[in-house]
Amino acid sequence: DWKMDSFVESTIQKLREKIGTGKVLCALSGGVDSSVAAVLLSKAIGKQLTCVFVDHGLLRKDESEEVEGVFGPNGHYDLNFIRVDAKERFYNKLKGVTEPEAKRKIIGEEFIRVFEEEAKKIGKVDFLGQGTIYPDVIESGLGKSAVIKSHHNVGGLPDCVDFKEIVEPLRLLFKDEVRRAGRELNIPEYLINRQPFPGPGLGIRIIGEVTEEKVKIVQEADAIYREEVAKAGVAKDLGQYFAALTNMRSVGVMGDGRTYDYAIALRAVMTSDFMTAESAQLPWEVLSIVTTRIVNEVKGVNRVLYDCTGKPPATIEFE
Ligand code: XMP
Repeated sequence: DWKMDSFVESTIQKLREKIGTGKVLCALSGGVDSSVAAVLLSKAIGKQLTCVFVDHGLLRKDESEEVEGVFGPNGHYDLNFIRVDAKERFYNKLKGVTEPEAKRKIIGEEFIRVFEEEAKKIGKVDFLGQGTIYPDVIESGLGKSAVIKSHHNVGGLPDCVDFKEIVEPLRLLFKDEVRRAGRELNIPEYLINRQPFPGPGLGIRIIGEVTEEKVKIVQEADAIYREEVAKAGVAKDLGQYFAALTNMRSVGVMGDGRTYDYAIALRAVMTSDFMTAESAQLPWEVLSIVTTRIVNEVKGVNRVLYDCTGKPPATIEFE
């Protein structure tokens, strides 16, 4: 693709000119936008770039290791990578908190605090690198009339770090162009095709109080769901699909015994812009395999439900 080829080349050149010998700090989430931004910066300025990846303990199964594998010291790129294991901090802050907006606020604030602490250790940086893409630019200019949910974005770090300027190499790109640039840069396909994953992570896919035990349950269930959807080859029409842990326990039977365990909810939606969405009609055979595997393999779950609701009136995420 000659156009993408020239975008990558000219962007790397421009970044070099702009940054010179300066230091750049980047928050990396492992999502496609921040990954492509980080790789462009790494190609341009190498070790002048430091990427901070905050593991808040609310990531999907194996995600933290995957991100470290790609961007860490044994990974594919020339950059400084810092992974912060902040699980305990987040779990402690979330103890006893059940209200969705309160959870979102705590996770967003704690994220900034952790990032800020890491930035302080690095000292003065000249630039803050961000994976802002064109739709983000438009959206923030529109001034939404009603706030349905307070969004937490890894890119949206307010003035918590001492820096001169922001660099946003993807500011003029749409999502599919970001993906093309990512392929041009040899970023692994599973990062490029990653589904949108909310900043508050699994924190808003566990209805009610978040505990480490519940995180494990939803991670396992979600991993099984993703594995089987991929295996069945039905992922391509889906905008987003994931497992959530309801806050409901119900009675079941296992062998001769009674169980009283959680219900997992499976969600799969088709959408063009995530503002509205339709519940996807996944093949029954796939749902059936996923259900059997989840109740057999995930301890603490004895029921699996499928969410048939569109947006509106539901939202895509549960909180
Ligand atoms: P809802 O649940 O509002 O989700 O229908 C629409 C899309 O936005 C994602 N989402 C978020 N993304 N920070 C993000 O970066 C957030 O706080 C957040 N909340 C929801 C959601 O996954 C879906 O793709």
